[in-house]
Amino acid sequence: MKKWTGGTVILSLALVLILRYSLLQSSSSTTTATATFDTSAAAPKPHLRRIHRRRGHLLSSLSGLGDLFPPPNSTHETRSSLSSKLVWAHMRPFLARSDALAATAEGVREAAAAVRELLAALDDEVDPKKRNCPFSVDGAGSSLQIPCGFVEDSAVTLVGVPIARNGSSAFQIELIGSNVGSGDVDPPIVFHCNVSLDGDGPVIAENSWTAEREWGEWERCPASGSAAADSNIKVDGLVRCNEQLGESVVPENLTGSRDDDQKIVKRSKRSARLSVNFPFMEGHPFTATLWAGVEGFHMSVNGRHETSFAYRERLEPWSVTEVRVAGDLDLLSTVANGLPVSGDLDLVGDVELLKAPPILKRRILMLVGVFSTGNNFKRRMALRRSWMQYEAVRSGDVAVRFFTGLHKNKQVNLELWKEAQVYGDIQLMPFVDYYSLITLKTIAVCILGTRILPAKYIMKTDDDAFVRIDEVISSLKRSGSNGLLYGLIAFESLPERDKDNKWFISPEEWPDDSYPPWAHGPGYIISRDVAKFIVQGHQERSLQLFKLEDVAMGIWIQEYNYTGQAINYINDDRFHNTGCESDYVLAHYQSPRLLLCLWEMLQREHQPICCE
Ligand SMILES: *[C@@H]1O[C@H](CO)[C@@H](O)[C@H](O)[C@H]1NC(C)=O
Ligand SMILES: *[C@@H]1O[C@H](CO)[C@@H](O)[C@H](O)[C@H]1NC(C)=O
Ligand SMILES: *[C@@H]1O[C@H](CO)[C@@H](O)[C@H](O)[C@H]1NC(C)=O
Ligand SMILES: *[C@@H]1O[C@H](CO)[C@@H](O)[C@H](O)[C@H]1NC(C)=O
Repeated sequence: MKKWTGGTVILSLALVLILRYSLLQSSSSTTTATATFDTSAAAPKPHLRRIHRRRGHLLSSLSGLGDLFPPPNSTHETRSSLSSKLVWAHMRPFLARSDALAATAEGVREAAAAVRELLAALDDEVDPKKRNCPFSVDGAGSSLQIPCGFVEDSAVTLVGVPIARNGSSAFQIELIGSNVGSGDVDPPIVFHCNVSLDGDGPVIAENSWTAEREWGEWERCPASGSAAADSNIKVDGLVRCNEQLGESVVPENLTGSRDDDQKIVKRSKRSARLSVNFPFMEGHPFTATLWAGVEGFHMSVNGRHETSFAYRERLEPWSVTEVRVAGDLDLLSTVANGLPVSGDLDLVGDVELLKAPPILKRRILMLVGVFSTGNNFKRRMALRRSWMQYEAVRSGDVAVRFFTGLHKNKQVNLELWKEAQVYGDIQLMPFVDYYSLITLKTIAVCILGTRILPAKYIMKTDDDAFVRIDEVISSLKRSGSNGLLYGLIAFESLPERDKDNKWFISPEEWPDDSYPPWAHGPGYIISRDVAKFIVQGHQERSLQLFKLEDVAMGIWIQEYNYTGQAINYINDDRFHNTGCESDYVLAHYQSPRLLLCLWEMLQREHQPICCE
């Protein structure tokens, strides 16, 4: 207790110091930034400039930076790595910021370790033909290694029989993460599920664990008390806890009479109900499938959906390396499938048709930055075989590049590296691919499109989106080339203030009641001047980082307007951010199979026909 109080005092002192420091820092940087704008813009309106947040300053050091950005000419930089690291060195000032995005420090530190591992692996790789990321793995022991992480729809299926020990019974299923760069500490538990068949309250309790934060908040099913009231919160449209399972905890005295005989009758009725509704029972075999969705892990038992668990920060499905099972259970089999398969480079006969074509022009028409994660091999391949085959892309007028952070798994990084060398369309980011860092990719796309592959327009999209490049180009011809934001625009939207929501934004992050206009993330296009403003603004740290990438773009564009620039917001309802419609210019949430199907439809029918 005493120790704890001491700690609190030190902590508050530290906070006071930090606050004071950043206040000083912000007042000085505000004046410098205003001065910059006064002199540069033709018609600046400084009174219009609203500064939402204290500006950050450059950090003098950040663990891992030295390794990620070695002096040029040192050991490995001479490898054929350059084409996939064009933006890499430019990213340094955006990482070492006092106002960096959450998890930047971890993302950088772990990336440094991942790069060390990768370079060592490149040196001693014996058999480059070995197939290293298989579609499925199985086993019967208590541990199953997942070689290349999970992707969307990856699943692990367990068959087992709960057993009783000393009258109680509980077993645990865990998905273990990777701890690259974290030394000797235990790896994080991305997902933990404890199924307890104890006494009269069987329950499934789910959580996550990391060395720094230990256990998070427990999510129980059936839920009780106030947690039960949250049951309207859904993950991928699925309830967090199956309601039917919830029936099993109806309090005994709800039905009135307290007669002893009746109580006994009721109890037996109740256990009968339990055995119907609780999916696990001692002595009864079950099949449980745990699968990765877009927003969380879902568990179904004997074919019925039971629980959903939203991914927690930095505990994302791609980082899973192992399935562990323990406790009072006879485990009969464990199978993981739907795992990411790396392309077998030797079997791809038409590499030349899929490779990024050389860029011959000094200024291209458009750069398309596709956000992708290391082990999404299949999605990248589907894009190369579908809309990246548009004539405008093959001729080099439009360049398409994948922006991919490092993975925490050596094998995935190795495959990614090889893929980058073969296709020449991957830009590696100097951080581990945490979702909370995607806004850094937006800046990276702007850097590539202004400083390295200068383009008139810059588009951002995702690796599960189909983009009709020809339609985008003809729309752009009518749209002017300055101050442009083109896409599906949200003109009036409010920050989400519900803490449990995926899009939660605290008043510290965004104090206003509403957001400026922004375009939905699956696809939007900006003009070159906007990209230049963004790169410069971040260089000077006069623009704020914001974790929602697409809203961030809207915020920056509004700042651009405050310099006196007129903004041309063009809304296009044919950008479908929740699926596909038959007039689509952009269709989101398309699996690799659907991406290929859409392309085939366009070739055959010459019209945009959806595939599902
Ligand atoms: C690399 O090192 C060599 C010899 O030390 C030097 O001549 C060359 O200019 C260096 N290149 C770069 C890019 O620094
Ligand atoms: C699982 O839950 C039961 C009942 O709540 C508890 O007694 C047990 O300690 C838990 N086991 C683990 C490993 O969390
Ligand atoms: C039954 O109801 C009473 C009063 O409404 C309450 O205090 C009690 O906790 C309930 N549960 C049981 C199991 O008696
Ligand atoms: C941007 O700024 C200009 C000049 O301050 C103003 O006239 C205009 O209404 C603003 N908004 C847009 C969307 O251009």
